[in-house]
Amino acid sequence: MKNRNKTIQLNNQDKQLSDNLIHLSQKTGIAAITNKIIHQDIFSAIPYLPNGFVDLLFIDPPYNINKTFKNNTFRALSDKEYEQWMESWLAPLLKILKPNASVYICCDWKSSAVTYNVISKYLKVKNRITWEREKGRGALTNWKNCSEDIWFATVSDDYYFNPDAIKTLRKVIAPYRQENGKPKDWFKLKDGSAYRLTYPSNLWTDLTIPFWSMPENTEHPTQKPEKLLAKIILASTKENAFVFDPFLGSGTTAVVAKKLNRKYSGIEINHTYCLYAEKRLQKAATDKSIQGYEQGIFLERNTKLKTLPLKNNHLFTLNRE
Ligand SMILES: C[S@@+](CC[C@H](N)C(=O)[O-])C[C@H]1O[C@@H](n2cnc3c(N)ncnc32)[C@H](O)[C@@H]1O
Repeated sequence: MKNRNKTIQLNNQDKQLSDNLIHLSQKTGIAAITNKIIHQDIFSAIPYLPNGFVDLLFIDPPYNINKTFKNNTFRALSDKEYEQWMESWLAPLLKILKPNASVYICCDWKSSAVTYNVISKYLKVKNRITWEREKGRGALTNWKNCSEDIWFATVSDDYYFNPDAIKTLRKVIAPYRQENGKPKDWFKLKDGSAYRLTYPSNLWTDLTIPFWSMPENTEHPTQKPEKLLAKIILASTKENAFVFDPFLGSGTTAVVAKKLNRKYSGIEINHTYCLYAEKRLQKAATDKSIQGYEQGIFLERNTKLKTLPLKNNHLFTLNRE
């Protein structure tokens, strides 16, 4: 029987992927870190990073909960302590940003206010995205925790944002026709249903947390979906821009940057996670697919374009009325 579990596994051969990792012990130029993973503690790496090279900084730090990342355990702190900890790496990291850079920081509801407090001291806060985790953590005495936040901030008011690159295909429940009978901003696909291409809001309900049947899945306990990173990278950078992630984990940011022709670098303290990231990057050299993003369009959760067959492979030539 075909193995349906697509989780990426490391084997003995993958140990040689260590050769690609770098460690910073002196001031470094941009070329030396471009498309490289820095395997070390964020605090020992920051002093050696170059200045002013990053277009997009994506940060997915350990949240303020007890969590073990391999042999590295993060213990929940008081709000004040978490705020101080966050500031202790964010403030010195800001030197790597270009004057028109964008920054996204992930958090859960508990650390969202603290995260806002820290970033609003140093950056211009533009928005807070809330996204639905399909798999919520159940609780009998509280509401199930099913969402996370991502704060979006910029260095200045001069920043890049391209909403046309992140349009989403959505089913229209009540397709409206104008007086002349023509559809108002919708079209029919071959399945007979009405759809619209919309600009996404700051509420994202189309994401799936990586799990065993997804080819991007690894054993990392808090891996972000590639689709989430694709939205952020496409909205906030042009091709060839530099994307940096100081808590790289299993490498999602770097992998999606590579698939979308951006430069990348990132820091990760754990060696095994670095190897997963390298293995995913190796795969991304030939496989540019991003689940949920097809032909330049983001799809609703768990849908594929093949279920909505397109004439000549082009959305706009389809049954348009
Ligand atoms: C929330 S996870 C990031 C997950 C990542 N976005 C992904 O998609 O796989 C945070 C990561 O930060 C790493 N980490 C924790 N403390 C660190 C430190 N002091 N320096 C560098 N990395 C650290 C952990 O090992 C973990 O992989």
